[in-house]
Amino acid sequence: MNIKETDKQWIKEALAQFAGKMETVVERNQGKIPYTTDENGRFDDRSGKKDICWWTNGFWGGELWQLYKLTGKEIFMQEAIGTEDKMDAAFMDYNGMDHDAGFRWLPTAVIRYKQENNAESRNRGLLAAASLSGRFNLNGNFIRAWNDWGDDRDTTGWAIIDCMMTLPLLYWASEELGDPRFKAIAVAHADTAMKSFIREDGSVKHIVGFDPATGEYLGNYGGQGYDEASSWTRGQSWALYGFTLSYIYTKDMKYLETARKVADYVISELDNKFPEYLVPVDYRQPAEPAYEDSTAAAITAGGLIELAKCMEETGDQSASDKYLTASLKLLKALHEKRCDYTLDKDNILEKCTAAYFDSRHEFAIIYGDYYYLEALMKLDGSALTIF
Ligand code: GLY
Repeated sequence: MNIKETDKQWIKEALAQFAGKMETVVERNQGKIPYTTDENGRFDDRSGKKDICWWTNGFWGGELWQLYKLTGKEIFMQEAIGTEDKMDAAFMDYNGMDHDAGFRWLPTAVIRYKQENNAESRNRGLLAAASLSGRFNLNGNFIRAWNDWGDDRDTTGWAIIDCMMTLPLLYWASEELGDPRFKAIAVAHADTAMKSFIREDGSVKHIVGFDPATGEYLGNYGGQGYDEASSWTRGQSWALYGFTLSYIYTKDMKYLETARKVADYVISELDNKFPEYLVPVDYRQPAEPAYEDSTAAAITAGGLIELAKCMEETGDQSASDKYLTASLKLLKALHEKRCDYTLDKDNILEKCTAAYFDSRHEFAIIYGDYYYLEALMKLDGSALTIF
């Protein structure tokens, strides 16, 4: 990819600032698995029995592994291993296992196994893949998302766009075992997602409901975005990044074309409506309140980098340059305006939002930091990946 020397320079500086801060932050938070921060800017802890199944619990371990790769500092590795051990309790809770298995064990067990080749982490990755596969519904060819959504609606037939990002767990398991079953499920789900979630203009639905007994498409729901007709930014980022990953594993051009369709839509929304490249919670939310979600910016940036690499490989340098440029704009906006590299708070990224209609907006969220770090390290050529 054509990364200018001046960009390489700020990326190196940003990585040094990130890693420098996190050495102290990790020292003062040993044994925790954080999701967000408290009113004093200190990390919370989701490693106890009540929270061990929380869907974001893999991102802290993932961040620690990336930091270990970046710096070689032992503390990052030790804490990452501790995180993975604690997460074993989640395997014993049927209701706590859902489509987020990929988010939980890819950045922890599978990333570790890729480096150390250890049997324990391989076993965890495979158990997670088996659990994820068990959520596949042949009636409709989709992976069921959540076990419940926190209200009285029946989620048996629900699929969500986020799941595109967890499919690499299945591609990895098939490669690891030489057993095509897992990949077949990933491909079947990706094909359903392509048909049922992606609108003609490249915008993406969050939740699609199918009749779980017949597979009939019933409709879509606003989910974490503004409404059914809207365009939740993190959902767009999961689609963009997730379809690119499905292309990387399968080399099926239809996934690359789908990722490009979403990416072109996202870039056009940013250029026309959010030229500072600070990402809202929903590309179609009302002008006020102008809620932001920095996690969507970081995930979009990571997906665009992979897409830029794919386009370069196919020989389309101008498309590659377009996606790289957009990614750099997103990351630079975060670096200059939305990062706290001081020790006042434990998190790095500011203004992250989980869902448009939550009572809390614009706070610290661990996967924002993870994907921001991962994207910078991708550009630096140092990121750990599972492909
Ligand atoms: N996967 C859930 C979310 O993006 O909030």
